[in-house]
Order: sequence, then structure tokens, then C-alpha cells
Amino acid sequence: MATGALLSQAARRLEGKVAVITGGAGGIGESTASLFSKHGARVIIADIRDDLGKSVCKDLGPETASFVHCDVSSESDIKNAIATAVDKHGKLDIMVNNAAIGDPSKASILDNDKADFEKVISVNLTGVFLGTKHAARAMIPSQRGSIINLGSVCSSVGGVASHAYTSSKHAVLGLTRNVAAELGRYGVRINCLSPYFILTPLTKAIFQIDEDAGVRVYSNMDGVTLRQEDVAEAALYLGSDESKYVSGHNLAVDGGFTTINPAFGLFARA
Ligand SMILES: NC(=O)c1ccc[n+]([C@@H]2O[C@H](COP(=O)([O-])OP(=O)(O)OC[C@H]3O[C@@H](n4cnc5c(N)ncnc54)[C@H](O)[C@@H]3O)[C@@H](O)[C@H]2O)c1
Repeated sequence: MATGALLSQAARRLEGKVAVITGGAGGIGESTASLFSKHGARVIIADIRDDLGKSVCKDLGPETASFVHCDVSSESDIKNAIATAVDKHGKLDIMVNNAAIGDPSKASILDNDKADFEKVISVNLTGVFLGTKHAARAMIPSQRGSIINLGSVCSSVGGVASHAYTSSKHAVLGLTRNVAAELGRYGVRINCLSPYFILTPLTKAIFQIDEDAGVRVYSNMDGVTLRQEDVAEAALYLGSDESKYVSGHNLAVDGGFTTINPAFGLFARA
């Protein structure tokens, strides 16, 4: 995806900032990297898909974007990704812990394997823990920074995805709130960003579908479809100084899906 022209200087909301985006080679992470760079940020894409990640960086431009191979479940890889940002650009302003995976769809817990469960936790939760820890280490000395953890509607309701995925996303929200309690004193903010369904390789695998028409039926918002670019816009807000007093928050980009129950009541849908 090409970056397109940079916005005018006055319109750039991340001018001079440095961001690491895990899972930035595709999906929501790629859209976030693209939007951040349009807004003047230099981005480090940290992903396991080297060819794709490098090609995204090439499109964004070598001055703006660089790729680092990083498996978020490996502490040394995460350390290296943060060190790359700091060595190259002298600081880290924004950490987007976005990488995540699903597990094989099995409707019954009786069929769920421990190894599959632990694999999801190691990427979706331990990966966010490691990204948060090493981002905080880089941000605390400068007394500023914004950490953005990708949650999901599965961070606050059950019954949408697998036990492993839902457990991991609930835990990401818990971790975010706990770390917010610690890092406020250092001027470092941390928030969760929790989208509704978007068709990406991740959700194709989780829900075993190829198009999103069926899922739109369950959306609370008619006449609009959530896109990965919309999530990137919310990440832009959380990464920018416009959200300077927002921390420990779960920003749901879900059209109200997690806060209303349309099954019964005055506004029940047929
Ligand atoms: N798509 C949705 O509907 C949706 C909804 C709610 C939340 N989310 C969350 O948004 C985030 C992005 O999801 P997406 O739909 O863009 O997924 P995606 O599969 O399109 O992209 C995920 C990226 O993470 C990378 N990745 C996977 N394992 C990794 C690892 N161990 N280390 C580093 N990188 C790794 C992949 O290579 C890929 O580039 C995830 O945290 C997901 O849970 C997505």
C-alpha cells in the first residue's frame, strides 16, 4: 500500500515521533504504519513476515519506515526491535502492540489442546507484556510515551471467539489497566484499542470465512462497515498529544457492540 503524499506540516499529528508497530506487515498494523508515517512519524515495523514487512517499508520510504524481524513472544526479539528504534532515531514515543494470532477453531473446550492455548497466550499476551516492558524501559527516562495495546470486543465480552483468544484479549485489557497505574507517575500513557470485526487474514482464520457480509448482521451500526483504516485513525489519536491525558482507557471501535445488548428490550432487533 503506497503512503501517498505527506500531509501539510500543520496537519501532521505525529511530526517527529518514533513508533514501533508489532505485526505491522499486514492488516491493522500495516494501516497504522501507513497513517502514522503520513502524519510525520518514523516507524519501525516489527513482524515475523520479513518479505511483506520489507515491502511495506519500501512503499512508505526508507527515511520513514524500517523493518526488523521480531517474534513478539521472544524477549530478545522485542528488545532488539526497541533498540533498533532508539539506535536509529534516538528515542521511542509510541509502541503499538498489535501482533496477534488465533488458534484452530474448536467449539468445545473438551477438544482444546493445551499447546494451542499456550501458543495464543505466548503471542497475544506475553508478546504484549514484553512489548510494554521494553517500551516502558525506553520511555521512562524521557518521562513521556504512549503505549497502545490492541484488544478486541473479546476484551470485554465472551462468546465471540475461542477460549484462548478471548482469555488473551481480556488479559491484555487487565495488563493495560495495571500498567497504567504504574506508569502515570513517569508521564507514560498506556491504552487499549478494541475493534469490532474486520476481515483480515487473522479473522479469516478464526472464523473460517472469506467475506464479512454475514458478520455485519451482528453489528450495531447500520450503513457503515468498519475498516482497518478506521482503527488506524483511533491509534493515531492515542499516539498523538491530543490524547495526552488519556491513560488506562479501553477505546472500543465497535459501534456499541460491547455496550448494548440488542437481544431483548425496547430496541431489540428482529
Ligand atoms: N481483524 C479484526 O477483526 C480484529 C478485531 C479486533 C481486534 N483485532 C486485533 O487487531 C490486531 C491486528 O489484527 P489483524 O486483523 O490486522 O491481523 P493480521 O493477521 O492481518 O495481522 C497480524 C500481523 O501480526 C503478525 N504476527 C503474527 N504473529 C506474530 C509474532 N509472533 N510476532 C510478530 N508478528 C506476528 C502477522 O505476521 C501479521 O502481519 C490483533 O491484535 C487482533 O487481535 C483484530
